[in-house]
Amino acid sequence: MTEVIINLKLEMSELLKKNAPIGVLDSGVGGLSVLKCLKTMLPHEDFIYLGDTARTPYGPRSEAEVRQFVGEMLNYFETQGAKLVVIACNTLTVLGVDTLKDNHEYDIIGMSKGANLVLNASRNKTIGVFATEFTINSGAHKAAILAVDSTATVVPKACPKFVPMIEGERFDSPEIKAAIAEYALPLKAAGVDTMILSCTHYPFIKKEIEDEMGAGVKVIDPAEQTALDTKAALEDGGLLQAEGSGKTTICFTADLERGKRIAARMFDVEACTFQNVTLGK
Ligand code: DGL
Repeated sequence: MTEVIINLKLEMSELLKKNAPIGVLDSGVGGLSVLKCLKTMLPHEDFIYLGDTARTPYGPRSEAEVRQFVGEMLNYFETQGAKLVVIACNTLTVLGVDTLKDNHEYDIIGMSKGANLVLNASRNKTIGVFATEFTINSGAHKAAILAVDSTATVVPKACPKFVPMIEGERFDSPEIKAAIAEYALPLKAAGVDTMILSCTHYPFIKKEIEDEMGAGVKVIDPAEQTALDTKAALEDGGLLQAEGSGKTTICFTADLERGKRIAARMFDVEACTFQNVTLGK
């Protein structure tokens, strides 16, 4: 009898864990481009997205500051009982996902650096990387590509103008086109045939970047690979939801209406719940 009760309790707690939401975080609206892939690949899961729109961009900030901010977001997901957290931000991923784990019960998945994706796509092994200055200064993407193929040429370019423009909804503006043209120059000069968008904000302007680079250059977004990594981690941990309709809650630390408009560019927001969240108090 006791054994039956213990087994029943274990089954219940396994079920509760499976039913728990997946946390997805970013400095602002960028991670919504990753949430889009996660929602498509994992339709039965519940998601809680948290974008720190009050303090974006993180790219120009110090390591101490971004570590403090991501710590606050990870604590928030602890209070929400998340079963897994996806860092939908390259700037935070390059801090080292293992260094963010702390005492959190859930596992953490970072953005894919996409080394195999770009190397498989490239013929001339000359690869461009667009990212925030924090990510470019870390050298993480260049190192990841060279670790797979030391003969490759990597052309990293920090693009500090993009995030404020995307957060400011200046999607089709002449300023954003001028910034893309400016940042594309060294990649074009080096003759890249493939490039990776290693900031989750940039897929919002992927089409414009493709237009500037021309038909001969493949522009890769590592979001889908990150969603595949997330699915694999859920399967490994026995946490994958096989049924249910999946709820999405989207939280921002400022400008909820703006966040909602930008989210609508990525997926249907009708069935999503939007909420304000305060961090750091
Ligand atoms: N979306 C983020 C990334 O992938 C951060 C952008 C920022 O806050 O500067 O790096």
